[in-house]
Amino acid sequence: MQKLIIPILLCCSLVSCKQEKQQNKVVQPENEKYYTEVYRPQFHFSPEEKWMNDPNGLVYNDGIFHLFYQYYPEDIVWGPMHWGHAVSKDMVHWEHKPIALYPDEHGLIFSGSAVVDKNNTSCFAKNGESPLVAAYTYHLMEGEKAGKNDFQTQGIAYSLDNGESWTKYEGNPAIGNDGIKDFRDPKVFWHEASQKWIMALVAGDHAKFYQSEDLKEWEHISDFGKNHGAHGGVWECPDLFQLKVEGTDEEKWVLIISINPGAPNGGSGTQYFIGEFDGTKFTTDQTEAKWLDYGTDNYAGVTYNNTPNGERIFIGWMSNWDYARDTPTEKWRSAMTVPRNLSLQKVEEDYFLANYPLASVDELMSANLVENLEVASGETKSLQIPGVHQSKIQFRTASKDFRLTLKNAEGESVEIAMDSKSKSLLLDRMNSGKVEFQAEFGNKKHHAPLTPLKNELYEVSILLDWSSIEVFVDGGLVTLTDQIFPNQPFNELILENLDSTQAIQNVSVRKMESVWRSK
Ligand code: FRU
Repeated sequence: MQKLIIPILLCCSLVSCKQEKQQNKVVQPENEKYYTEVYRPQFHFSPEEKWMNDPNGLVYNDGIFHLFYQYYPEDIVWGPMHWGHAVSKDMVHWEHKPIALYPDEHGLIFSGSAVVDKNNTSCFAKNGESPLVAAYTYHLMEGEKAGKNDFQTQGIAYSLDNGESWTKYEGNPAIGNDGIKDFRDPKVFWHEASQKWIMALVAGDHAKFYQSEDLKEWEHISDFGKNHGAHGGVWECPDLFQLKVEGTDEEKWVLIISINPGAPNGGSGTQYFIGEFDGTKFTTDQTEAKWLDYGTDNYAGVTYNNTPNGERIFIGWMSNWDYARDTPTEKWRSAMTVPRNLSLQKVEEDYFLANYPLASVDELMSANLVENLEVASGETKSLQIPGVHQSKIQFRTASKDFRLTLKNAEGESVEIAMDSKSKSLLLDRMNSGKVEFQAEFGNKKHHAPLTPLKNELYEVSILLDWSSIEVFVDGGLVTLTDQIFPNQPFNELILENLDSTQAIQNVSVRKMESVWRSK
């Protein structure tokens, strides 16, 4: 495995911010072809090679953000799962690490989470360390093949050297299975009010909550969800956390649940519920699903434990089980979303979860391709832009009727439009390049309702990488994330302002630096 050099791991606290930023850059001098394959994301995380799905074990510890992930090291399609591993100082520049968890006699290593056991409640540490403890699902293939229902159990493992090496708990599986077919994806966190560990996991059509004092023995305390939200498919990858409602002192609990299939635009998607958690039960008066992202490529996302200032940082898998195995990359398959900050917003007496890229993503902005342009009401502007694979497009407007089209020399295009009549944002990738590899990929436009929008004059921010597009409207109150596979970079930007009174202001296009290569 090729290692990236990130010298900051040793940096002292006296270095200035500017120096830190410099040192954050990953220099890859030995191999100039590194991360240049066709469609290779330039500022998103993707494995060096082979198959990746869900983010796992998102935890910050001792200056390092860990990203573990579902990984099959032998092929570019899903197979026996391991936990791959990468680390970062800023969640934008990543250093690849060796595989952290391998399958064992209890099964393959499915999704899960990790915590810092600060007080050594687990007693895994013997010399005063604070162990990192991972909780994950064991999937026993033999059991599944034999037609049993109890082949998924929960295991734990610990690390005493900040994730460098892992030891499996000898009492595994820590939670057995009484015959629940889909029983997986434990998310563990420390519940401050009751001074105990809570685990959320999913069981087919609902979430289950457990409590523990030592991370080893778990007691089932409640269930949620049989009659709540979307049920078009199996529930997966739960997450539960508390957030302040932006601009107030009010606090709410948010439960995130991925579901496959059953997402609003097809296949896999992530719904959320806003309510209360009293240490035992999650309750909400919300019955209908709310969706974290209306694109088809943001799945199985969860948040970091133990962030430095309590920020709620989310990373999702940028793919969809409908076509994840068929996307046209050769060396590796799939990438993660950019890290996103989650916030809770109250809009007209209702609550919404916004997700918006972390500020560290903006530090990658470099050359100005378009600067401070205005598109008056009723006007259309067509701009030639240098064909770059990765850029950030941004503007502000009160117009709810516009169309933005990105085109390349092969006549391929992606369209993002807002329509006040249908009150929706849409993304059209039907003519975006390679789409024919799977029937669902390019067969329809993706729609998002505009209901949560808060500000009259709102911002549209678009992150374009070689094989993805992420659209954030009004600080991430409406989000759409889609994969795309254009055969050439886009070199024309057409912005049509279809509103008769409102201008589109401050249009800018900035190149984004690659995080995998020096300039
Ligand atoms: C979600 C998921 C999880 C499971 C993992 C297996 O994408 O199906 O429920 O743990 O992937 O790789």
